[in-house]
Amino acid sequence: MTAVGIDALEIWTGNLKLDLPGTFAPQKGEDPEKYTKGLGLNASSFPDSYEDIVTMGANAAHRLMERKGLEPDDIGRIDVATESAFDNSKPVSTYVAGCLEQVFDGDFHHANKGERKFACIAGTQSLDDAYNWIKAGRNRGRAALVIATDTALYARGDAGEATQGAGAVAMLIDEDPSLVELSTHQGYGSADETDFLKPNQQFPSVDGKRSVQVYLARMREALEDYESVAGDVHPDDFAYAPFHTPFPGMVRKAALLAYRHVTRDTAVEDELAEEIGRQPRAEAFDDEESFHDALREYMDSLKDTDRYREWYAETIDPTLAISREVGNWYTGSVHIARASALKSALEAGKDMTGSTLLVGSYGSGAQAEIHAETVCPGWEEEIEALNVDEQLTARYEMDWADYEEVHDVHNHDMDVEMEEFTAPEGEFAFDGWGRMGERK
Ligand code: CAA
Repeated sequence: MTAVGIDALEIWTGNLKLDLPGTFAPQKGEDPEKYTKGLGLNASSFPDSYEDIVTMGANAAHRLMERKGLEPDDIGRIDVATESAFDNSKPVSTYVAGCLEQVFDGDFHHANKGERKFACIAGTQSLDDAYNWIKAGRNRGRAALVIATDTALYARGDAGEATQGAGAVAMLIDEDPSLVELSTHQGYGSADETDFLKPNQQFPSVDGKRSVQVYLARMREALEDYESVAGDVHPDDFAYAPFHTPFPGMVRKAALLAYRHVTRDTAVEDELAEEIGRQPRAEAFDDEESFHDALREYMDSLKDTDRYREWYAETIDPTLAISREVGNWYTGSVHIARASALKSALEAGKDMTGSTLLVGSYGSGAQAEIHAETVCPGWEEEIEALNVDEQLTARYEMDWADYEEVHDVHNHDMDVEMEEFTAPEGEFAFDGWGRMGERK
């Protein structure tokens, strides 16, 4: 069977940076450690006045196509995943294709273009669509371009303002991939939820605390569903577990839940129970109520065990490095977690070929998906080609007044103009709503 997966990816960050402990926390009268220790964030990326989901997506895709030596004729499908779309009819992929046609010979008239929406999980859904399209043999030898692009902005004063971000990830999906092969098995947890909504409004209405609980509930269901098709998962089965990362503190909770789930009723659980001094199993407690309290206490103790700490440091922490510096990229977030893990492996000189990643995607509203990926020979060259560190260092750091100005300029309900903080250089720049970006 032909292997299908991600052949290459590129990351494009918004060109501005907001220091959360240094600039945001003091303005809000909060302890900076709420950000660094609680949410696990150092900074958020923001779009400059000339950036939007089209320009960031087109810039990431352009870098990807140029690096891989591709022309429009090599691409048979362009899907954009976003929850920041400004057009309810024409998909963002058509705007992105318009940008790319300015710089490549030929056009994308032959390519099937679309836009995927299911909050943050839409990036992974687009990946799945591309995988299915190729597996079905409908691609005529062409690859798919999947772009996850978002400006994750919340209304000023909303609790979500702490977890903003902006950026794009472009991925090339193809046969015999160089980066990761996708598994055929997937597990889902899906329910009609109203914790995070944008019904004809730019900024989300969000019940933040509940959104955290919904994320955890759907992720547990997806893990169970995945195990029902792929067989029981063991914590040592996978090298990294990149999860959707709205903020790293969320993943700390999801990882604990996943670890508890995959160690249940195993020898690992027996060893943990010995270290903790109690069994988390139902038969160990008299009634359901005391069982739940006991399970909570068990979970609290679990995160302080050596075994869990080591697993977390090896398997989860490396997935969070980029997210700590950029915040939430919604649809792109789980894909920067994967890139972050592989970048960390490269820096540590790890041989990853043949290793497995357990990928946990999530979208509010709400749905989680678990699937596995196998790292392919060629992954090192692909990850080495990323210039994410240079991009993050090159961002302009905003003070509070800058931040307020930029937030207003990206608010569709306000008619504000501002001078840009950085100059677009060899990149697409915003050219007005309903128009593609212009290459500067
Ligand atoms: N030192 C150390 N830790 C501190 C601290 C300090 N001085 N002060 C606070 N903290 C900790 C808190 O204890 C808390 O940790 P726990 O949850 O583990 O208890 C953490 O820092 C955050 O503090 P608060 O809960 O007080 O923060 P908040 O009221 O500002 O709300 C939030 C946080 C709910 C995440 C809010 O930012 C929000 O609504 N964000 C948007 C919604 C979101 O991202 N939800 C995630 C799940 S939904 C999803 O994943 C989809 C998506 O992308 C949106």
